[in-house]
Amino acid sequence: MRKLFQNLIEKRRSYRKYTDEKVSKEDIEKIVKAGLLAPAGKNNKHWEFIVVQKPDLLKKLSNAKPVSAEFISEASFAVIVCGDSTINPNTWIEDATIAATYMQLQSEEMGIGSCWVHMRTPTHESGIMSCEFIKSEFNIPQYLSVECVLSFGYPNETREAREYGDFNKQVHFETYE
Ligand SMILES: Cc1cc2nc3c(=O)[nH]c(=O)nc-3n(C[C@H](O)[C@H](O)[C@H](O)COP(=O)(O)O)c2cc1C
Repeated sequence: MRKLFQNLIEKRRSYRKYTDEKVSKEDIEKIVKAGLLAPAGKNNKHWEFIVVQKPDLLKKLSNAKPVSAEFISEASFAVIVCGDSTINPNTWIEDATIAATYMQLQSEEMGIGSCWVHMRTPTHESGIMSCEFIKSEFNIPQYLSVECVLSFGYPNETREAREYGDFNKQVHFETYE
């Protein structure tokens, strides 16, 4: 089910409900490789991705913050998106978010739903930051920072395309007014 880019971005939605069908190893690799194709500041491609498929580990990720992550436990797989903030201290967040977006768009094209789960600033129920909780539970080395978690799976919900933003209010030419 290939979509042209315009169609892809017009129809793309976040999916938080997934069928039991597992995404194949080949398709997982294709999605993750899309992240590796993303641009990065100074071409320092410092990101590292941890692919999580085991149900107990998906459950652990879903508990990394108190709300808005619970659906990760139902995903076929998740990707912990990390960046090395020591290599690109000024742009590691931008670099990692572009890589995450590439993965989401690749999966959308393949008919595989995804949702971004913010993990950089929330807090785990223990009081430590969600990103630090994930680092310690998944043996992520200290030099890496966790930007977000992406959940993936075949959608078990139908979502309508969104309206565009307000062009006249949000887009300005030459100067603001
Ligand atoms: C930076 C960022 C952080 C997000 N964090 C979460 C999150 O923690 N949990 C969640 O369920 N959705 C999260 N989302 C998904 C947004 O809620 C979703 O993209 C937004 O509501 C627009 O819906 P759509 O993606 O279906 O167009 C996040 C999206 C972005 C871009």
